[in-house]
Amino acid sequence: MLTITEVSRRSGVASSALRFYEDRGLIRAERAGSGHRRYPRPVLRRIAFIVFAQRIGLTLDEIGRELAKLPPDRAPSRTEWEQLSSNWSDRIDARIAELERLKLGLTECIGCGCLSLDRCKLANPGDCAGELGPGPRYWIG
Ligand code: FES
Repeated sequence: MLTITEVSRRSGVASSALRFYEDRGLIRAERAGSGHRRYPRPVLRRIAFIVFAQRIGLTLDEIGRELAKLPPDRAPSRTEWEQLSSNWSDRIDARIAELERLKLGLTECIGCGCLSLDRCKLANPGDCAGELGPGPRYWIG
């Protein structure tokens, strides 16, 4: 069992964020006799999952639904983690495509409506991209 300080140090996640994750039901702690939190070591893997999932754009509700598929009373097996991550392939592919567009389009017109680059007049005359919906239309894809 690990203290919150040990979990924070090892995971790189602030203690306040760990308490927030616990409040949201994403991780669980037991209470020592002193009332202090004690985390089972496999919590580190769950936290890594949460951090990574947030980076690829999952909301905390979505992360909670994914984590709810894991057994609550023991460390998940490799197979159980595999099943969870296999559901993410499409999401990760979409995120990679977004990042590629971001990388390639940083100096190009992204169809955001600003019309501030000299290329906007050609690529997005009169903000015609805005007819497709809100946001940077050429980034959204
Ligand atoms: S970069 Fe904003 S509309 Fe072209």
